[in-house]
Amino acid sequence: MSTDITTQVAPAAVPAYIQAIAPYQAGKPISELAREFNLNPADIIKLASNENPLGMPASAKAAIEQTLASLGRYPDPNGFELKAALSARYGVPANWVTLGNGSNDLLELASLAFLAPGSASVYSEYAFTVYRLATQARGARHIMVAARDYGHDLDAMLAAIDDDTRMVFIANPNNPTGTFLPAATVAEFLSQVHQRHGDSVTVLLDEAYNEYLDPEFRFDSTEWVKQYSNLIVSRTFSKAYGLAGLRVGYALAQPRLTDLMNRVRQPFNVNSLAQAAAIAALADATFLQQTYEINRAGKQVLEQGFRKLGLEFVPSYGNFVLVRVGDAARVNLELLKRGVIVRPVTSDGLPEWLRISVGLPQENEGLLAALADVLSGT
Ligand SMILES: Cc1ncc(COP(=O)(O)O)c(C=O)c1O
Repeated sequence: MSTDITTQVAPAAVPAYIQAIAPYQAGKPISELAREFNLNPADIIKLASNENPLGMPASAKAAIEQTLASLGRYPDPNGFELKAALSARYGVPANWVTLGNGSNDLLELASLAFLAPGSASVYSEYAFTVYRLATQARGARHIMVAARDYGHDLDAMLAAIDDDTRMVFIANPNNPTGTFLPAATVAEFLSQVHQRHGDSVTVLLDEAYNEYLDPEFRFDSTEWVKQYSNLIVSRTFSKAYGLAGLRVGYALAQPRLTDLMNRVRQPFNVNSLAQAAAIAALADATFLQQTYEINRAGKQVLEQGFRKLGLEFVPSYGNFVLVRVGDAARVNLELLKRGVIVRPVTSDGLPEWLRISVGLPQENEGLLAALADVLSGT
């Protein structure tokens, strides 16, 4: 006699912590805005998702074209070649590298490995939203520490770690505020966490915007990975490397941690095109330098423009600027009507602010003109 197992299993209750998740608010796609306001997609300026305004590097496009023929097969589940390239770049063994479907995936993998109901994570107010989402999705407790000057208060975060804490998330630079913690401050925090809590608390240092730092602020976080057995450093190919649509990021950590993240990783989480493009982009120093320069110049233009408009902004170390416009919902709607997409950050607790990504020169000028127009009430 066959048995229908579905009749034997009680309907699964959805855990309350899953029901409580507020969906992630992504930047509005150009096609959606064009439909909504009957605009020409080609005229729309999108400065909402901290993407690279140069698009992807030509070197990555060539690598993708070469890989197309093999798409009938699954990707390399271990990303051998990309890990080899990252290993050579950072001087760590390949088994210290974990690949992710974007660095967002790595945040998820770490939370899957270390968080569960009964545990807690520490993160800052105004930190990257996914720390909250990943904590929530695991049913873990949130220990959100008040920000200091819109950035992370590492002393308060250290003090907030309790017996249940299994993870601390730090974004450096941070999104959406663009704030930055100098190397010495981070080093002291890492040393204190490890001294007090050993391997029972994993620190995830998220460096998605690292490549935008001016040379005097750059530091070698891989040295910390070698030093601290409880540290994961994550980076991405989505921003400065121009591959946001392909979804590829990586984490560097000692083998105990990479092993744990790999246990909860989907075997084929990074597709073949992404792996090939990332190898090419990693080697493309010219594109990276061009990206850095266009961003630095564009950021100055935006900050100068905000000053002229009398708007407060948080000095940014990333490829975006957080600016205070007052009634951000209204300003955002008016910008949308004028074909400009930026990012409201109300759900981050910043209802008077907009986060605006640095674009190409004409996009930055277009945004500033539209903003001046909106603020003058014309
Ligand atoms: C601080 C930070 N970390 C991680 C990510 C995730 O990016 P991705 O999954 O594209 O690597 C973002 C994206 O905006 C970010 O701002």
